[in-house]
Amino acid sequence: MDHFRYHEGELWCDELRASEVAERAGTPCYVYSRATLVDHYDRLAAAFADLSPLICYSIKSCGNLAVCRTLAERGAGMDLVSGGELHRARLAGVDPARCVYAGVGKTDREIREALDAGIGWFNVESEAEFENISAIASVHGARCRAALRVNPDVDPRTHRYTTTGKKETKFGVDLERAEAFFDRYGDDPACRLCGIHLHIGSPVYRVEAYVESVTRALGLVDRIERVRGRRVVEMLDLGGGFGADYETEQSPVASDYADRIVPLLADRARDGLQVVLEPGRTISANAGILLVRVLYVKRSGDKTFVICDGGMNTLMRPCHYDAFHFIWPAAVSGEHEPTRRAREMDLPGLVPVDVVGPICETGDFFAIDRALPPVKRGDLLAVFATGAYGMSMANHYNSQPLPTEVMVDGDRLTRIRRAETYDDLTGPERNPEVLVEGGTKAHGHEGTKGRSESSVSS
Ligand code: LLP
Repeated sequence: MDHFRYHEGELWCDELRASEVAERAGTPCYVYSRATLVDHYDRLAAAFADLSPLICYSIKSCGNLAVCRTLAERGAGMDLVSGGELHRARLAGVDPARCVYAGVGKTDREIREALDAGIGWFNVESEAEFENISAIASVHGARCRAALRVNPDVDPRTHRYTTTGKKETKFGVDLERAEAFFDRYGDDPACRLCGIHLHIGSPVYRVEAYVESVTRALGLVDRIERVRGRRVVEMLDLGGGFGADYETEQSPVASDYADRIVPLLADRARDGLQVVLEPGRTISANAGILLVRVLYVKRSGDKTFVICDGGMNTLMRPCHYDAFHFIWPAAVSGEHEPTRRAREMDLPGLVPVDVVGPICETGDFFAIDRALPPVKRGDLLAVFATGAYGMSMANHYNSQPLPTEVMVDGDRLTRIRRAETYDDLTGPERNPEVLVEGGTKAHGHEGTKGRSESSVSS
């Protein structure tokens, strides 16, 4: 479900040829389709309409301001995990009261900034964090709301790096501790503990996993409210994790998730429970592609390497998670026009190649032994479903500047982030600042200057 399509051998991004986009924007280049972003958001909102949810787009998936602004205009709040993301949300015109703030390691400064902004809810991950937020709020004379992130111990059956709802991850508190948490902090005057937050992993293609975790969370809500003898939980945040189509029809669609989740919550939502969703990838992944240019084709042993101008610095998912991304030339002959996106393509004349980047690591690849139509220097390749966790995880390794980002909207192409320059790379290093002059005197070594053994090791 996206607006990137082949027509007569050429890839189109909405109403523009990918080749024209690359010529105007340069490569490597992330291309987002505004229509796809809006379509994904609207489908989700429609599917869950019976719950009137607050849909907090997960900025970490793709935080470009133009992307956030597009979704904010449709009514989205935001899911944040850092002061930087709060800054983005505000610049995108999002009311902080419509934002949830998660993350296991919020700093004091970030907490203060979120309090000042009037954040909707802190999604709290530990006792120590709750106490810290409460203490900071008290000192500032501020009041805030919190949802406890509960770890429902459900296996989402996804990559182990992105599994978060199992007991043995660093996220949230387990169900048993959650009741005690409400007993202990339920009457805190500065930070009102009034919500439950779940996020079991990403991507989660098993709809049943949501049914299990929501059911467990509702059991917890009932137990807490029975003990306290009143309504306590006003907000239930289901987190993110809905899938994306890395391969054609790989993922359930919004209505598949909603069909199972909405009936569990409809009565409570009618009764005033605020449901929150935190979708990232399901909105942004298929709304973006990465365009890279082939620099060289090289044979080595039995292998053919297609070396591109973007690599693990531009898109980390293949090397970090072994993630599959469909890759195809932007211009092909008729017989090579893909009708679907899949690992194995059953077309004549394909050749197995490794698609790699310029980075000095063997782990720098987009695909290994992938069957592609023959390509040559100068050809343009599209790496599909890279709108989520593509640019947001890009990095400067090998002193590579970050790539440009553009948005297509019908036949209009807008640059929404310029490519970085060498000056952007080195700017923060330009004015070294002396922080300590003469070294610290070592403990117990009166008169010893500079690096005595004890000062180095302490
Ligand atoms: N809410 C919370 C608390 C999260 O931790 C995440 C993602 C989301 C929402 C959004 O999940 P989504 O709807 O996008 O699946 N870099 C990895 C994904 C890491 C996800 C981290 N948390 C990847 O490239 O697959």
